[in-house]
Amino acid sequence: MTEIRVCHIDEIGDPGSLEVELSCDDEENSAFVVKVRGQLHAYVNSCPHTGVPLNWLPDQFLDYSGELIQCALHGAQFRPGDGYCVWGPCQGQSLKSLPVRLLRQQVYVSCA
Ligand code: FES
Repeated sequence: MTEIRVCHIDEIGDPGSLEVELSCDDEENSAFVVKVRGQLHAYVNSCPHTGVPLNWLPDQFLDYSGELIQCALHGAQFRPGDGYCVWGPCQGQSLKSLPVRLLRQQVYVSCA
């Protein structure tokens, strides 16, 4: 299992998000970590609608309210807690989640 250290917990805002490059099965995978109300979650950076990365700007995955993950291309919105799409062209589908854990204040993400 590939696991990488992302950052210290305080380096992610709340709400906030960070992009992560993971190497899984000899492939480079873009992923991201979100922190909302102290809860950490990680997802593959691929929109269920077309498969493109969700963000246009570095480390920007949340909408203006900081309550939902938003795809920059067509605006689909996802719950941070489970990646479920609540609005947009892929409503009812979900982001692919990745294991994330906190150890001694450091955030780690691993391949599914
Ligand atoms: S590509 Fe994400 S909503 Fe269309």
